[in-house]
Amino acid sequence: MQYSAYYVEEKDGTFSASISKLELEKPADGSVQIKVSHSSLNYKDALSASGNKGVTRTYPFVPGIDAAGTITDANSSQFNEGDEVIVTGYDMGMNTPGGFGEYINVPAGWVVKKPSALTSLEAMSIGTAGLTAAASVLKIYESSQESDLPVLVSGATGGVGSIGVMLMSKLGKEVSALTGKSSSADFLKSLGATKIIMRDEYLEAPAKAMERPLFSSAIDTVGGNVLSKMLPQISPHGVVACCGNVAGIEVNTTVFPFILRGITLAGIDSAESSLAFKTSIWNKFADEWNLDLSSMIKIVTKENLQQEIDLILQGGQQGRVVLTHGE
Ligand SMILES: NC(=O)c1ccc[n+]([C@@H]2O[C@H](COP(=O)([O-])OP(=O)(O)OC[C@H]3O[C@@H](n4cnc5c(N)ncnc54)[C@H](OP(=O)(O)O)[C@@H]3O)[C@@H](O)[C@H]2O)c1
Repeated sequence: MQYSAYYVEEKDGTFSASISKLELEKPADGSVQIKVSHSSLNYKDALSASGNKGVTRTYPFVPGIDAAGTITDANSSQFNEGDEVIVTGYDMGMNTPGGFGEYINVPAGWVVKKPSALTSLEAMSIGTAGLTAAASVLKIYESSQESDLPVLVSGATGGVGSIGVMLMSKLGKEVSALTGKSSSADFLKSLGATKIIMRDEYLEAPAKAMERPLFSSAIDTVGGNVLSKMLPQISPHGVVACCGNVAGIEVNTTVFPFILRGITLAGIDSAESSLAFKTSIWNKFADEWNLDLSSMIKIVTKENLQQEIDLILQGGQQGRVVLTHGE
């Protein structure tokens, strides 16, 4: 049997994608085969789709770090055919073919049973971006000291950022949204942001060793000079959840925010977090953290994926892109 996939090939050092028919293989012992109904687009998928060998070592390859669908072949006692499931992260979409194909074979240990309160479309509207935002929120709640100052979210219109803004606002926090998109103020306010900060104005003055506290904590999805700038602006015993690097991988700081204010720079790695942790977050999204993401999603097919990949690489996406494989 054959299935269709967004398939990236390398020829003479250049990478191109096509919608191709691939041969479906049996799942190995301990693995399951899933008919994918929905996937989603994350920044890492765009890197894999464009030949970034830090993400995907060898091509040809099918990206897609997120998938939701139904088990069609359970070569593991943990699952049955017909189970509705979600897979995010681990090696899927990096070096194990991912959700941009209509079928995936993955180890049972990567698979979460989908909570019945979420549809596959809703689960993939959340996807890895939502898990990352949720892990950041939990880190802040676990470790930071109460403060009336707002939480800062950078890259606020992106996948992780927009769900981070929505979640923090739902939990009753005031949210300042840092963005490069002047046209997105209304969008960010609709997610619950109370203040919009434009990135170019924010970065106008260079980062200082210490500044007046402006934010209680922060979700930083971009890194680089933005992260450097915010660290001295966090109030005593606040937490900066560091989860992204689209603005750069280097951080310039001093020890002062850490030793004079006791702030925490907390790393987030949602892809490799334990299945139990991922399951607990899915259960929260299905219950008390339920979010209506319908106004922030764009639903596309494999045929329309390339333009969305190009846009995310330019930093131009707003909200989440969900891939449907249709019926
Ligand atoms: N640690 C983890 O577990 C984990 C999991 C998922 C994603 N990530 C990382 O998180 C980051 C965001 O992922 P995503 O899927 O949300 O991507 P995304 O949808 O493209 O969001 C990134 C946002 O960052 C802002 N941005 C883009 N270029 C920028 C630049 N040069 N300087 C400053 N800001 C810039 C843009 O928002 P504005 O225009 O609103 O500023 C953009 O929409 C990526 O680095 C990704 O690899 C990490």
